[in-house]
Amino acid sequence: MENFGIASALLRLLLLQLVGSGRGHLLTGQPAIDLRIQAREQLISQSNDSVYVQRLMRLSKSAEMRSYMQQDADACDNFYDYSCGNWPQINPANDAYPRETNFEQLLVKAYRHKQQRLMEQPANEEVDEVAVLRLKEFYASCLLYRQASEDLYRVQLQEIVAEFGRMPVLSLPGQEWPAEEFDWQDTVARIKRQYGFNILLLFQQSADRIYVGQPKQILPEGNRKAVADDIARHLERHLGVDPNLAVTTAREITQFEHQLAAVMVDRRVGVMSKLHITNDMDYVDGANLTQYVETVLGRELEANELLYEHVPGYLNKLDDLVAVTPPHVLANYVFNELLKHFYYERTESVLEQCVSRVRDLFAELLDNMVFKQYGDEGTLKDIDAVWQQVQRSFRGALQNSSADWLVPETREKLLEQLYTTSLVINGYADVNFTQRYEELQLKPRDYLHNLRTILHHQSLMVKVKAQTSVTYDPVGKRVLLPVTLLQPNFLWSRYYPKAVRYGSLGTLLAQQLAHSLEDASKWDAKSFAEYSKRKSCFKEQYGRLRLNGHYLPESDLQAENIADNLAIQVAYHAYRRLLAELDPSFLGSESLPQLNLGSRRLFFLSFAQLWCNDANEQFRDKQSLFLGTPNALRVLGALSNFKAFGRDFNCGSASRMTSSQKCQLFTVNLD
Ligand SMILES: *[C@@H]1O[C@H](CO)[C@@H](O)[C@H](O)[C@H]1NC(C)=O
Ligand SMILES: *[C@@H]1O[C@H](CO)[C@@H](O)[C@H](O)[C@H]1NC(C)=O
Ligand SMILES: *[C@@H]1O[C@H](CO)[C@@H](O)[C@H](O)[C@H]1NC(C)=O
Ligand SMILES: *[C@@H]1O[C@H](CO)[C@@H](O)[C@H](O)[C@H]1NC(C)=O
Repeated sequence: MENFGIASALLRLLLLQLVGSGRGHLLTGQPAIDLRIQAREQLISQSNDSVYVQRLMRLSKSAEMRSYMQQDADACDNFYDYSCGNWPQINPANDAYPRETNFEQLLVKAYRHKQQRLMEQPANEEVDEVAVLRLKEFYASCLLYRQASEDLYRVQLQEIVAEFGRMPVLSLPGQEWPAEEFDWQDTVARIKRQYGFNILLLFQQSADRIYVGQPKQILPEGNRKAVADDIARHLERHLGVDPNLAVTTAREITQFEHQLAAVMVDRRVGVMSKLHITNDMDYVDGANLTQYVETVLGRELEANELLYEHVPGYLNKLDDLVAVTPPHVLANYVFNELLKHFYYERTESVLEQCVSRVRDLFAELLDNMVFKQYGDEGTLKDIDAVWQQVQRSFRGALQNSSADWLVPETREKLLEQLYTTSLVINGYADVNFTQRYEELQLKPRDYLHNLRTILHHQSLMVKVKAQTSVTYDPVGKRVLLPVTLLQPNFLWSRYYPKAVRYGSLGTLLAQQLAHSLEDASKWDAKSFAEYSKRKSCFKEQYGRLRLNGHYLPESDLQAENIADNLAIQVAYHAYRRLLAELDPSFLGSESLPQLNLGSRRLFFLSFAQLWCNDANEQFRDKQSLFLGTPNALRVLGALSNFKAFGRDFNCGSASRMTSSQKCQLFTVNLD
């Protein structure tokens, strides 16, 4: 096996070298090859610790890092181009998909591949936990459902409709659809209760609040014809609707959805919600929220259970829209929204469909499975060591004289914050999945039955969104590290120099610690005024940065830039201190073969390459306006403020990477 692994690692080197010479585009454009190599590389890296493997892994990392670099660019003129200049050639963005490519995507792609391999491992009653067995049972039933008869499938879909009433488009010829029997609010409430879908109305319980109101925003669709065609095809294929009727119905549904999209806004649940006051006058004809919630919960509301309107104003607009919509259109819309979750495509890739279903339905469990596989003691210890060092350096920065402008009580509070923030790897280690899934009764081949069972099982749970970047959770005072980052051989590996992990993981963690200090309740007025003074330095400085000849819009939102600046300095300090503490003989391993960079330069390169990206021009313009500082300028801005960078790369005082006026919140002391 070892030979095989080494052969693959060499293949990877070869691919990367081809890319480096400008010919490898097509080759690495094939994700299958990429992922197979990643997988093999992992096998060797896990199974053998020999010096030879270590050298191979380092060669491979070096080849990867070099492949993104544009080595003839001047590091002191534009360090982003120097570090990432070749990235767009290797991972090009385009007009449609992907409109942007970045490092996070590579991690996610490899992660999804690992998830898939876990679900594909045959079920084993002896070693698999109950929850994992259920997941695999469901996956298998999905794959096998391809063999079920079309007739059975159609009958099952009709059964789902029949649970809630009748869908107008399914009426038999000559049969009248009884409009007076259709109560939209009651129907969507029962659908929510049974399967958890938020159609027209949202219901969400979190902590002690019940939110009711606008569901997740539906975006206005540019190409309505394509959407209508798609719906028509589904009605015909899955439900056997007559082609002409399917086209008319699909057009009506799309038209309604378009009007609905027009009254929606983009807002997170919990933001700007309003306590719902029952007012008999307001809701005589329209939605009765109390009734809706009681149907969803299947019980009466208690006196102390209060309802909050998510997106106040939505309900009135929805009422107005419903009032002018023919009942059969509304009903077709509601049932179509229900059924689309149950369609099974036997003509397209069944495998892909089933994998994505499992990922959707068992998101937390899958993260937990990966966590168990990769979160071994050694890895967790490595991550924790970086975290401890970074935290220590951050506290050092706050204690040093450059932070004397903080009023003492505020300084104490911020230090306290740094002491109490914890690092959590988001692998759901605290969830008892046995408890969650043991009651679930699945059937070997009956995919639709299983899907209905699982959806019902979790109908009132809040759906978690897969996390792919490091974030700070102010409620739990935790920095959350997504499981995607646990994957070995990306940001770090036990074989790589520590410079790589401090430059990447270290800066990511420090950045979130910086964000943890932003909580306004910790700041007194005087310290805050001083903070604002420093912030305006950043504001002016970043306003002078240019990307492709365009200036960045000057922005009051400097928190991200300030966090970037602090992060690189704190992580660098942590890394330097680590080097000072280590056995000097260790220094020899703080470099990568064929990459002629000392430990500190390697640190900076690892940081910059975290932010390599490519975005198509149109998207890029939007990005710089709405999504904050573009990646390239984040790197340039943060490094040009940092004296140590200029010194480590011997940049002259006139070079672009050494800003003469340095903006600082606190100064990290390196002497
Ligand atoms: C690791 O590699 C060495 C030499 O190549 C070999 O002797 C040893 O058995 C391997 N260990 C494992 C765990 O595969
Ligand atoms: C709303 O529903 C609740 C519970 O079913 C009922 O008590 C109340 O009278 C209804 N309000 C209106 C305005 O219809
Ligand atoms: C998880 O739940 C099951 C029963 O649902 C229980 O037997 C088991 O002890 C629980 N595990 C832990 C670690 O609490
Ligand atoms: C704080 O100051 C001390 C003494 O000058 C220094 O050793 C330490 O590295 C400084 N820490 C930071 C994070 O600047």
